[in-house]
Amino acid sequence: SKKPVRVAVTGAAGQIGYAILFRIAAGEMLGKDQPVILQLLEIPDEKAQKALKGVMMELQDCAFPLLAGMEAYADPVAAFKDTDYALLVGARPRGPGMERADLLAANAQIFTAQGKALDKSASRNVKVLVVGNPANTNAYIAMKSAPSLPRENFTAMLRLDHNRAASQIAAKTGVAVGDIEKLTVWGNHSPSMYADYRFATAGGKSIKDMINDQEWNANTFLPTVGKRGAAIIEARGLSSAASAANAAIDHMRDWALGSNGKWVTMGIPSNGDYGIPKDIMFGFPVVTSNGKYEVVKGLDIDAFSQERINKTLKELQEEQAGVAHLL
Ligand code: NAI
Repeated sequence: SKKPVRVAVTGAAGQIGYAILFRIAAGEMLGKDQPVILQLLEIPDEKAQKALKGVMMELQDCAFPLLAGMEAYADPVAAFKDTDYALLVGARPRGPGMERADLLAANAQIFTAQGKALDKSASRNVKVLVVGNPANTNAYIAMKSAPSLPRENFTAMLRLDHNRAASQIAAKTGVAVGDIEKLTVWGNHSPSMYADYRFATAGGKSIKDMINDQEWNANTFLPTVGKRGAAIIEARGLSSAASAANAAIDHMRDWALGSNGKWVTMGIPSNGDYGIPKDIMFGFPVVTSNGKYEVVKGLDIDAFSQERINKTLKELQEEQAGVAHLL
């Protein structure tokens, strides 16, 4: 049987932690033949550590054959030791009266420390996915704080936006969600993201032609996908956790095991494609194989798309400028 791999998860006692750990241990992320060792990080706070112990008791009670070990940590350097995969889920949520700048600064501190910890102790091939918001900027900070790791090992989660877009399109057109290909989401994981179905197909047929309604695209589809997180909070009284966990599993599985030629969306450090400045952590269409991702190149960007891409890029540049002095 295969040698176990190490999977670090931060914020492990939180909502997303509770929705993701059981699926990772069941083999849904890295394959049903891949044993895993979970390295779980929580803040040193006594309540958080105790809650994490409770989650671990439940993981134990599942008797997952693929769960080869698990450990709780309060120190990121220890939690990331030799880790092959790191899911950075824990982040500082916006508290009452907290300004955007305060939120950015609080998270900059967390992700600087975690980037440095990864730099120091993780496997040199570690695959990092940042889920904690603001996800793109947190991923950018972690990448900049880990100079000895390859920059392409740092990614941010746009997959939830991608999956939300696919489901809205399926509902609109009646095609099966699993048949939709060549969909992508450009930019920031925020309401400014640009979900782009111009190239999308189902059963070889153009989704854009099927919909043929630019007014719906601009005034219904994009706002629905962009504000979906807020709509879920409004309905559930809690933020999306199971769907976020599912998207994180999709992102890591495709990165690790390959997308079989299909496009998926990942937030990755730009190499300059589509005029996005180098290192901006931006949602792009990618194809994955052998543990690597490649940006889908040469797509036509029309005026409407360019305007949307410029807007989400500007927001990211402002966020990243807002933390530059903290790096
Ligand atoms: P939660 O509040 O239920 O759990 C977060 C956990 O992280 C808490 O247990 C907390 O103690 C822990 N934590 C905080 N700072 C930490 C640190 N420095 N090190 C280790 N652990 C730390 O939140 P939930 O619902 O699990 O969401 C987690 C994050 O994911 C939030 O920032 C949320 O905004 C973000 N999110 C991102 C999505 C995306 O598409 N990128 C989608 C949904 C949520």
